[in-house]
Order: sequence, then C-alpha cells, then structure tokens
Amino acid sequence: MLIAQITDTHVTSPGGSTCGGAVDSAARLAAAIEQLNGLTVAPDCLLITGDLADQGNADEYVHFAQLVAKVDIPVHLAIGNHDDPAAMRAHLDLPEPMPGGWLQYCVDDYPVRLIFLDSTSDVHHMGELCDERLTWLRDRLAEEPDRPTVISIHHPLFDTGIAFLDAAGTDWADGLVALLAEHDNVEMILSGHVHRSIQSVVGGVLANICPSTAQQTTLDLAASPSADALFVLEPAAFQIHRVGEGPVVTHTMPVGDFTGVIEVSEEARAGFATKDPAEMFAKRDHHSPSA
Ligand SMILES: [Fe+2]
Repeated sequence: MLIAQITDTHVTSPGGSTCGGAVDSAARLAAAIEQLNGLTVAPDCLLITGDLADQGNADEYVHFAQLVAKVDIPVHLAIGNHDDPAAMRAHLDLPEPMPGGWLQYCVDDYPVRLIFLDSTSDVHHMGELCDERLTWLRDRLAEEPDRPTVISIHHPLFDTGIAFLDAAGTDWADGLVALLAEHDNVEMILSGHVHRSIQSVVGGVLANICPSTAQQTTLDLAASPSADALFVLEPAAFQIHRVGEGPVVTHTMPVGDFTGVIEVSEEARAGFATKDPAEMFAKRDHHSPSA
C-alpha cells in the first residue's frame, strides 16, 4: 500500500504566519494538499504526524480542519508537542484515546496495520513515552505479531547530528526501541518534529523523519547544542511510503510548480528501458542534447 505523510503543518489562525511573518503555513499546506491530490496514483491514506497547529488554539484547528477537508483520501492524525489535546478533540474528528487520555490508537482498515503513538508531555516539548503508553503498544503488537505494521510517532527516536535538536537526547525512547527489536513485522517508524528529511535505523526498523510543509530546519552539523533553532525557507515537502509489498520505499516530493526541462520522446523511453547500457547511451546521445 502507499502511505502519504505530511507533518508539522503548524497551521495558524486565518491570516497568521510562522517564523516572524515569513511563512504562510496554511497556504503551504494547501499547496501540498493540491499536489498530493494531483498525483498520478492516489495513496491509500494520508498520515499527518503532529504539530498540526502552531500554538494549539481552537481557531487554528478550525482552520486546519478546513484545509484538510480538501484531501481526497482518508486522513489519520498524530499529536505533536505544539498541539493541545483538548482543542484538537474539540475541533477535529479523532478516534477515542487510550485510557489516560493519550492519543494512541490503531487503524486496521488497510493491508498494513497503522499504530499511532502519543510522544507528548504535559510539561515540556521533548519526547516522552511513559510505562502506560509503552505497555499499550506492547499489547497492540502482541495482538498481531505477523501483520505488517507502521508506527507513527511525532518525536524521532534517534539523534540527528543537528546538535541543538539532539540536546534533549533519546533516552525517553529506549523502551520503544527495545520493543521494536522484538518485532520483525514493524516495517517503518514515521516521525516529524525536526522539519527535515532524515532517516536512520532503530531497533532494526527504518525510522523516517518527514520534512515539514511549513519551515525547514537549517542543516547545520556544526551547530552548538545551545544554539537557537534556526529555520530556512526550503520548499514545503511531503512523502509517499510504499509498505507491505517487499522492501519499504520512500519518495520525497517538494511542493511547488517545477516544470520538466527535457521532454522525453517515446524512442528515448525505449532506450531507457533497454538492458544494454551501450545501446541506451547511444540512443540518448543521438536524441538528447549533451549535458
Ligand atoms: Fe514542528
């Protein structure tokens, strides 16, 4: 199946913006949705992995709901550290939370089981996963140990190499990583929070951070742990994950009007399809301008 992922939409109240006025996060989400709806093959569903709203207030969730109503495929939501669970629940269509109020739930409508975890805290913006939430996940994984499964969780489970983002550490996720190592049916972990496309492996599972549709984090591997988080106006982007059909594959799609620069003729396409490299390059040299 194909899973689309959008994250860290940071939608503001209508007319608002993020990054000191530099980013119209609602407009960027709207453009991402339009591009997603226009894909040649529609994904089976869209997961939005937290920080749906910028400040977590009611107006933002009403605005977010208006924007997301335009998505042509089913949408499933995770909670992020910028989100307010009560305001989310008041204005968005959410499944019942687990006992304790944490927004953890399963979706069993697809060939691949989707599990959503709540890594938020009542007192800080870092990742957190208490014994109650971890036990819930252990029980869910025990229910269907052989079924392909994808887990969504807002905070990533690994250090990224961008020091100021890694300062809080990942100790909070140790129990989850250990649990992943016990289950070979978990195909992928989908996260957000960092606002960049970054991948690693944790507990033997591919862990993916999707870029934001709002601002991206500057790629600065020399930044000090105490540096202020700095953002850069790279394009919004979303991802498409192929899961449950052999090796996991992820595509990253920048959002914008990017025109192709070389038209490929039918004859050239036939050349690309050949298994003889010499023949392929000969055809390309003949039909394409040199680059
Ligand atoms: Fe965020």
